Amino acid sequence: MSDSRSGTPGNLLTDHPELYEARFPDPERLAARWTEDTLRRHGAGPRVLDLGCGTGRDAAALHRSGRTVTGADLSEAMLAHARDHHPGPAYVRADLHGFDLGQGAFDAVVCLDSSLLYCHTNDQLDGFLASCRHALAPGGLLVAEMRNGSYFLGRTDLLDRPAVAEFAWQGTAYRSHTTLTVDRTAQLLRRTRVWTTDDGSPPAAQHSAWRLLFPQELRRFLTAHGFEVLELHDGPGPRTEPRWHHGELPGTTTDGDRLHVVARLPTP
Ligand SMILES: C[S@@+](CC[C@H](N)C(=O)[O-])C[C@H]1O[C@@H](n2cnc3c(N)ncnc32)[C@H](O)[C@@H]1O
Repeated sequence: MSDSRSGTPGNLLTDHPELYEARFPDPERLAARWTEDTLRRHGAGPRVLDLGCGTGRDAAALHRSGRTVTGADLSEAMLAHARDHHPGPAYVRADLHGFDLGQGAFDAVVCLDSSLLYCHTNDQLDGFLASCRHALAPGGLLVAEMRNGSYFLGRTDLLDRPAVAEFAWQGTAYRSHTTLTVDRTAQLLRRTRVWTTDDGSPPAAQHSAWRLLFPQELRRFLTAHGFEVLELHDGPGPRTEPRWHHGELPGTTTDGDRLHVVARLPTP
């Protein structure tokens, strides 16, 4: 099993976008439909930046909804896949820790499936929010969906044993063992994923991490950067159980394992 490098450090899934979509299927484009619903509820304008766009499937679905979409990611492999398989949006390479895609160029920035949590340090979060503020027009929205750091306070169900996933892709059976550990000092959720296949390749281990970001901490970061927090809740959303369905309104708690945030820049 190869582990080529392409922007994000050695990650089998971001280096192999088809495998990513096979491992995390979203055939009904629920994440994009939830995003479109959220943007409409808050009257967002048409220009959307999908930051950490991955394979481009959500960016393209938002494009089909009539929006003018730019998808941005650090992984060249993801961007190449997005251009080939999910056309419509413009795709550009950008680092969410700090980017400049034009002042006031977007009416909304969306950041789905924990992409925001690749901001590991406070400086990276500040860089991300300062860049979003620069990118957004007055009244622009930030919509993000991610793991919820506070879920791990007093709960160990996601830490106690590896999560095992098995699936077939292009005739090969893949199995991943994912172990999560909490690094309390760095405030990171560290992930080790060991891949095995039935094609004779040796196992490949990969390491990555998400920021353990707490709801009230996120609220403070957002207000410090001049955003008004409109929604902060644990669901329903595209990756909650049960999943969000059309017409459902956001809840008011932040106790579950996913966190959803909508924040707005003031109009002058
Ligand atoms: C979990 S995937 C989510 C992809 C997509 N948003 C989705 O929901 O399917 C995280 C994405 O963030 C990208 N990424 C990681 N670090 C990044 C960074 N510093 N700047 C931009 N993108 C980054 C990865 O390449 C990957 O495509």
